[in-house]
Order: sequence, then C-alpha cells, then structure tokens
Amino acid sequence: MEIITDIEKWREYARSERSEGKSIGLVPTMGALHAGHVSLIEAAREHCDVVIVTIFVNPRQFTTSKDLKAYPRTPERDRELARAAGATCVVEPRLEQMWPDFPLTTATTVSVRGLSDNFEGADRPGHFDGVASVVAKLFTITGPCTAFFGEKDFQQLCVIRQLVRDLSFDVKLVGCPIVRDVDGLALSSRNVLLSANDRVRARVLSQVLLSLDDDQTRSASELRDSLLSQLRNANIDLSYADVVNPLTLLPLSDDDQGVGRLLLAATFSGVRLLDNAEVRVVAKEQARAASH
Ligand code: PAJ
Repeated sequence: MEIITDIEKWREYARSERSEGKSIGLVPTMGALHAGHVSLIEAAREHCDVVIVTIFVNPRQFTTSKDLKAYPRTPERDRELARAAGATCVVEPRLEQMWPDFPLTTATTVSVRGLSDNFEGADRPGHFDGVASVVAKLFTITGPCTAFFGEKDFQQLCVIRQLVRDLSFDVKLVGCPIVRDVDGLALSSRNVLLSANDRVRARVLSQVLLSLDDDQTRSASELRDSLLSQLRNANIDLSYADVVNPLTLLPLSDDDQGVGRLLLAATFSGVRLLDNAEVRVVAKEQARAASH
C-alpha cells in the first residue's frame, strides 16, 4: 500500500492507474478510522481495482477551534486499518497544500444552497461549505472515480450528490449503510470523546429510531410526534429530529407517503452525535383507515 502526502503524486497515482485501465475507488475520511470507515473501504475494494483512502482533518468544516483540536487523530492505526480493509493507497495531504492560505480564509468556496441550510447546516454555519469545498478538491485531484460515502452523515451525502450533479464531476457516488455498535449506537470517530455515562445515555438515539421501524403505518406527523416525544422523555440535549424527504431533505407533511428519512442530532456534554434511519410513511388518511 502506498502512502502519499503530496497532491501532485496523488493526482499522478490516480492518473497512472486509470491509464492501465483500472477503476479508482475513493474513500474520503478525516481519520480516526472505525468499522464504519472500514465498511466503505471494503465496498470500494469490491467495486473498484484500486482504492484511495484520503485522511484529512479538514479545518474548514469545523465551526469551533475547540472542536477541531479535540478531534481524535490515530494516524498509524488508520494506515493499518486501511491496509487490512483493502486500500491500495492512503493519502494524507498536507494542510499547506490543501488550503495554502490557512488560517486565513480561502477565497474560493463551494456552497451547495438549500440542502446545506437546515439541520446540521443551521446548527453549524459554514460546515457544509467546508465539506463541499474539500470534497470538490478531492474529486478534482483524484479525477474520474467512484466515491464511497456513508449514510451515517445523511445530509452530507445529499449535499455531495447535488455537488456532483451541479458541477458535473466525473464521479459515481455510492452511499453505504450505517454501521452500528452492538448496542445500536452509530459508529462515529467522536464516540471516543463520550464519557462512560454519556455513552450509555446515547443509546437512546438508535433505540428511538429503531422503535419507529416496525410494521405500523404512520403518517409524517405521527412519526414526528413519536420521535420528538420519545426524545424529550429521554431528557437529552436534542438539536433536531424530523422526518424528511430523502432527496430534498424537506420535512414531510401528512399528504406524503412512501420512503422518508428520520434525521436527528443531539449533544452529550459537548459531543455532537448524528443518527438517521429510513422509514415508511403513509398519507394521513391511509394511516387513519389502517388503525380502524
Ligand atoms: P468522517 O467523519 O471521517 O467520515 C468519513 C466517511 O465515513 C463519511 O462518508 C461518513 O459518512 C462515513 N461514516 C462515518 N461513520 C459511519 C458509520 N457508522 N457507518 C457508515 N459510514 C460511516 O464525513 C467526513 O469524514 C468528512 O466530512 C469528509 C467527507 C471526509 C470531508 O472532510
């Protein structure tokens, strides 16, 4: 497995593999790899001939310097996990090449309006501009590829899908399912920052999502009410919880039916956790008929 820190070498690596007819899989990460990241690398390995894993803690997507500083970093372990999962190349780009003006503001920003505005975007202003800007740069340097992202960051996946469409990147996107711990908590690099007590309390997030994944037919407002009341009862610091259209992320109404997405975020002693799940939604009239 190659380890590359220079942008031009990374561009050249992808170019030369492509010139040999090989397909390129790209797995962008911020390191502190866990089984969720590993599942993306394995999926990339299955679909593509070579797999580039990028590890870059992108300062532009953090809203506070405290959060950036606290972000876990485990470079040696990351390389080992990436290698074992089938990566052919790990790219650890240098900050001065990625954002040459940092800590001054970078003049060029990629901003995906609409999808970036609510939920994570509302709570963390500028976050998705940082994500879209860095991902655009990763795509530009890598060139034509298939890129693997987790549904764990569902809004991020929607933002990137729009980015690829609007800027015509030659990139095929693959969304991969959420990998969870045995107790249901969605794996996240931030989980190591939780206290033992908060780690137990955080289980409620996946439990509530799971409780709505049953055979019952519920309308959007019934789902929303149940989600909110269960989370309020759990007495946690909830940022948002909603049931939305999985493509537009617009909140569903009682006329909507089909596949929806439950989205939520909560903070435990300063550690922000996200989770989401697919859900079946029926129109209010049908929900009422089914309950009679
Ligand atoms: P990071 O949080 O390191 O996540 C890298 C990728 O792993 C993302 O696509 C994320 O959705 C996926 N992932 C994280 N936890 C997962 C889980 N439990 N199950 C499945 N996939 C999971 O997301 C980022 O980094 C950054 O914003 C990035 C896209 C790299 C841009 O800087």
